[in-house]
Amino acid sequence: KKQNLILAFESSCDETSVAVVADGHQILSNVIATQINSHKRFGGVVPEVASRHHIEQITICIESALEEANVTYDDLDAVAVTYGPGLVGALLVGVNAAKVVAYAHHLPLIPVNHMAGHIYAARFVKPFEFPLMALLVSGGHTELVYMQADGQFEIIGETRDDAAGEAYDKIGRVLGVSYPAGKEIDQMAHAGIDTFNFPRAMIDEDNFDFSFSGLKSAFINTVHHADQIGATLDKNDLAASFQASVVDVLVSKTHRVLEQYPVKQLVLAGGVAANQGLRERLQKDLPTAFPNTELLLAPLKLCGDNGAMIGAAGYVQYQHHQFGDASLNADPSLEF
Ligand code: KG4
Ligand code: ZN
Repeated sequence: KKQNLILAFESSCDETSVAVVADGHQILSNVIATQINSHKRFGGVVPEVASRHHIEQITICIESALEEANVTYDDLDAVAVTYGPGLVGALLVGVNAAKVVAYAHHLPLIPVNHMAGHIYAARFVKPFEFPLMALLVSGGHTELVYMQADGQFEIIGETRDDAAGEAYDKIGRVLGVSYPAGKEIDQMAHAGIDTFNFPRAMIDEDNFDFSFSGLKSAFINTVHHADQIGATLDKNDLAASFQASVVDVLVSKTHRVLEQYPVKQLVLAGGVAANQGLRERLQKDLPTAFPNTELLLAPLKLCGDNGAMIGAAGYVQYQHHQFGDASLNADPSLEF
């Protein structure tokens, strides 16, 4: 039987990516052009700079994705694209490119939610079994998402202020780590010890929400106070202490939610899902605490933004004939 091939676009933030995905779970190509170096000196993503880079990269990415997959436009069955949430100017580049390809080659257009894409990055590990819970941790979101079936998303808990990745990036400035800081702080954390014992906000509260702004403030105050009295603090210990607090809160809230919502699988996805401390902790704790729940870690290479995850989420919509048309627009604050 012939496979269904989807050409998938992702351009919501600072990665331009185009992928060819077969049957929603096989990557034929996943070309990612990152702009991180252009944004580093600003300490974050500059929207205008992002849009311009996407425009420069998108055609090159399409050509490389087709070439690497060894397919032509004629082999494709559909086009999928992230239409939100994200930066409006960045999203529009992908949305317009996808519309052009769909129109020119008479292919259905599949509008995909970026956060759904992150969850479906784990679909490349193995098929989903429902009900499923996703701990979705990225630069803009920190959510516990319950899925009764493919394509059905219910937010059970979320951050009341900063996202986990955002907290990493903000304390990165204080530590002198350049944007995006998560990966380097993760590495520093492994060389340090939790000596500072920062607060674990809302950890004992009987809800499924998160808060990271208090931790960020405690961290910044500790560093500033040390500066004032001329004390030198061990940066690795600071990183380890910060990470221990983030991981403790994420994991304990996840345990709390699983007690109330028994699920077949727990998916860890989003940019922060690349965190080694978090991955190791879930791998260690989950089998004993919830032996009937299987842990699905999004593959390391697919935790950050990429087109393949959009192709995987888009395939579910393809099967349900959930298509968009030429009126599709970017929706920067799209929710589930
Ligand atoms: O999902 P993503 O690529 O973009 C958004 O949709 O937001 O996530 C990017 C975020 C950044 O905040 C980055 O610092 C964080 O993921 N991140 C990490 C790690 N790798 C990336 N945070 C903690 N540990 C990591 N290893
Ligand atoms: Zn993302």
